[in-house]
Amino acid sequence: MLAGVHLMFFEELLGNRSFTDVEIRKIYGSDETEDLNFPPAIVLKPNTPEEVSAILSYCHENQIPVTPAGARTGLSGGALSDHGGVLISMEKFDKIIEIDEKNHQVTVEPGVITQVLQNAVKEKGLFYPPDPASKGSCFIGGNVSENSGGPKAVKYGVTKDYVLNLEIVLPSGEIIWTGANVLKNATGYNLTQLIIGSEGTLAIITKIVLKLIPHPTHDMLMLVPFYDAQKACEAVAAIFQAGIIPSGLEFMERDALIYTQAFVGESSIEIAENHAAHLLIEVDGFDPDQLMTECEKIVGVLECFETDEILFADSEAQKNTLWSLRRKAGEAVKSQSMYKEEDTVVPRFYLPELLGHIKRIGTKYGFHSVCYGHAGDGNLHVNILKGNLSDEFWRDELPIAIRELFSEVARLGGTISGEHGIGLVQKPYLDIVFGETEMRLMREIKKVFDPHNILNPGKIF
Ligand code: LAC
Ligand code: ZN
Repeated sequence: MLAGVHLMFFEELLGNRSFTDVEIRKIYGSDETEDLNFPPAIVLKPNTPEEVSAILSYCHENQIPVTPAGARTGLSGGALSDHGGVLISMEKFDKIIEIDEKNHQVTVEPGVITQVLQNAVKEKGLFYPPDPASKGSCFIGGNVSENSGGPKAVKYGVTKDYVLNLEIVLPSGEIIWTGANVLKNATGYNLTQLIIGSEGTLAIITKIVLKLIPHPTHDMLMLVPFYDAQKACEAVAAIFQAGIIPSGLEFMERDALIYTQAFVGESSIEIAENHAAHLLIEVDGFDPDQLMTECEKIVGVLECFETDEILFADSEAQKNTLWSLRRKAGEAVKSQSMYKEEDTVVPRFYLPELLGHIKRIGTKYGFHSVCYGHAGDGNLHVNILKGNLSDEFWRDELPIAIRELFSEVARLGGTISGEHGIGLVQKPYLDIVFGETEMRLMREIKKVFDPHNILNPGKIF
């Protein structure tokens, strides 16, 4: 609940871009995380940095919690208003301000849909590679806040590798730029990188300057069925060891593909009884002959890992179908059952061990998991299905099992989130990868930016 005087302030500031209606608050109370819903007291849709500044400085003075939100496609609850207060939706910040072809840069507002941005720069022959599965609906500002990855990360890197400069509003209301629009910057602490992945806890982003690269002109895509999921995982590091960096190297366990085909209502891929997992492998570049050579090399590597017949996509339509199957895996699993999603990541050579631990712990605790994800990055999304499991198990025992899994991940040199963030739902596990000293440093940084703890309170730690 927010006092009437505060509600009146916001209503006066934003007029018909402020919402206290129950239905609207309920909609903005959810992101894509599990089945969680925390309606804010008021939803605000500012459209200038000055309006964001006015909201934040008022909340700072009056100690009102503020949750910044993008398209709310997040999977760790980072945009949930679990402390009530104000939700600032950045959806009105939807302009591509400038595509600078001379410098291969783009300046964009945070509420631009990632795919819209990618398409706009592609028209100029340019490429913004980070492409989360939700690229058709997620916002670039959310990608920066979570340091999103996606399938292309394996060759091209994640969001942080493309952000040059940010305009941000601090909780105090001050508006600053974090860096400069340059490819090199050795000037002071790197505030830009500090904001990236800070999950809306330090500042609100109002402009983003991104680096672009020339758009590759050709790509080739293959789908490889394996009789043994472990062998599929072993093949991943072997491909890199052969000197190839694919532009996509995705893993899908048998059930992930079965659920996804059922979800989209077509079975374009024949999944034989003995297919345990698939790898989806893409190479891209500018020289078709070189891509052909790379594919031949990959096929040579795969011969050691017991595969069934490899499907090479022979048209754009087929490529789209295969990528869409992979991209819809998350939604498909979600439609099966209540579930919990863990975003494990290990150095890629240890992927087979990671999968082994996931299945072993599943058997020990009695849960069914469906795994898929960015195998080339060592990043597996582990979807644990509730199915017929009891509420008591879900509440009391599953966190113990997850802790056990994350401890194995840490032992392998990995960490507990590769690209989905900590947000609300992963914070109980942060102590597995950070000691008291690291936690103290992070808390102190938070205090410097946000002394009254108004901005996305209770997220990360
Ligand atoms: C994906 C999302 C869940 O890779 O990160 O599908
Ligand atoms: Zn992913």
